[in-house]
Amino acid sequence: MNKSEKILILDFGSQVTQLIARRVRENGVYSEIFPYTKWKEGLEKIRPKGIILSGGPASTIDGLSPQVSLNILDFGVPILGICYGQQTLCSQLGGKVEHSTKREFGRANIKIIGKSKFFFGFVDDKADEPVWMSHGDKVTEIPEGFSVIAESENAPFAAIVNEEKNIYGVQFHPEVIHTPNGSKMLENFTHLICGCSGDWTIESFKEIAIDRIQKQVGDGTVVCGLSGGVDSSVAAVLLHEAIGKQLTCIYVDTGLMRKNETEEVVGMFKDHFNIPLIHVDAEKDFLDDLNGVSDPEEKRKIIGSKFIDIFDQEANKIGGADFLAQGTLYPDVIESISFIGGPSVTIKSHHNVGGLPEKMKMDLVEPLRELFKDEVRDLGRELGIPDHFIERHPFPGPGLAIRIPGEITNEKIEILREADTIYIDEIKKAGLYKEIWQAFAVILPVRTVGVMGDERTYEYVCALRAVTSQDGMTADYYPFDQSFLAIVSTRIINEVRGINRVVYDITSKPPGTIEWE
Ligand code: XMP
Repeated sequence: MNKSEKILILDFGSQVTQLIARRVRENGVYSEIFPYTKWKEGLEKIRPKGIILSGGPASTIDGLSPQVSLNILDFGVPILGICYGQQTLCSQLGGKVEHSTKREFGRANIKIIGKSKFFFGFVDDKADEPVWMSHGDKVTEIPEGFSVIAESENAPFAAIVNEEKNIYGVQFHPEVIHTPNGSKMLENFTHLICGCSGDWTIESFKEIAIDRIQKQVGDGTVVCGLSGGVDSSVAAVLLHEAIGKQLTCIYVDTGLMRKNETEEVVGMFKDHFNIPLIHVDAEKDFLDDLNGVSDPEEKRKIIGSKFIDIFDQEANKIGGADFLAQGTLYPDVIESISFIGGPSVTIKSHHNVGGLPEKMKMDLVEPLRELFKDEVRDLGRELGIPDHFIERHPFPGPGLAIRIPGEITNEKIEILREADTIYIDEIKKAGLYKEIWQAFAVILPVRTVGVMGDERTYEYVCALRAVTSQDGMTADYYPFDQSFLAIVSTRIINEVRGINRVVYDITSKPPGTIEWE
């Protein structure tokens, strides 16, 4: 991998800034996002071959809108401003931005009207090109030295260029899928305009990550908490490849795992990878503490702090370690450094092991902090983790506890495990597992009347959930065929003692959340 080929994305707070990073990486060029205020740090850290200014919610017409430092022009690499990025560049360079009389949100067509590298390979001469617009302001006068390369009905300067200075600006969003050829435009920017070769792959990332871990850890020791999920597993296998026996993994069985989950995780690590693993059976501890608790946040807190205590005890038993490894991903990093947002309301206190670093006072190793979920899956495959493990649906830290609204009992956990296994098994048989982001069963704290044979039954209701999603932030329910739901319902009611009614959850997120608690 050519280490010098990186793109710096300066974030002005758009909801879709992460998509810019994704598209650029999909085109084989490594990219990183920095808040626009941290432009200097970004330039120094990644020495980019090009800079992209994201969109954002502000208006340059307000006196206090965020501005890009014009010092970035001195760095001498091509610049692309997207939406707000284009507007702020234009207004700072002597052009004019005004509120549109007609705001433009959604699909629009642009006409490519000038030759440029940005639209290389596109049919020009006034052919319609579909793009996605989302703006209330528009550039009405371009700065000196710029020319127009595309226009739309409502945006006369839909795309502009200053050839001499290598500065490009677009009013639309090439990073969203609703701009069908947007990825090609971004590729033209990174490859033709910035001169990147596009050879960034996950294999090259692996080599660099291993090298970085070795440098950071030296001959120190590392502990890593395995949750059974994909992220911590990939982090652990990567670390093991980098530092071998200096790594110890700790797997805490909370008693709230899915059927056979513990055996699978322990088996894979101990037998398949031969990675030192401490397996703590803490089922009783967790269930005792959860006894009689029905409030979801309280459940999360109890599980989180118990986990921290047990993990800490186990780490102390082996004499402690110099580092704590975590499978933090890029979206978590971005969320925490984003300059917008302000204090947001806690819907659910996620990241239930978040208190570990403070408690254990260890330095963190976070080898995945630059990757998106699908890149983590690719890296896992590259490291030889079996496909069926890599493709597992996300599973929340508090486990089945938050899929049992109300009080948790052993009986309910058992019933839920069985129902969930049947459901997932049928999804896999129908070849739908990969299409679905997450699917699971929930056992409700209500009993309903049914009739089986000649007998009256009075048993629990099982709710089934399946959603599609890109990142878990928003989600749609999965539109199963009714015949599929009928098969699952029949199997669950026939095979699981304790359930006599099955319902399917058709709520999207928002307004619902994916989990029921
Ligand atoms: P929600 O329910 O908030 O879930 O729509 C979004 C994603 O996050 C997972 N989730 C959690 N993960 N600890 C976790 O580690 C938690 O407390 C937690 N709650 C929800 C959920 O499974 C989904 O993938």
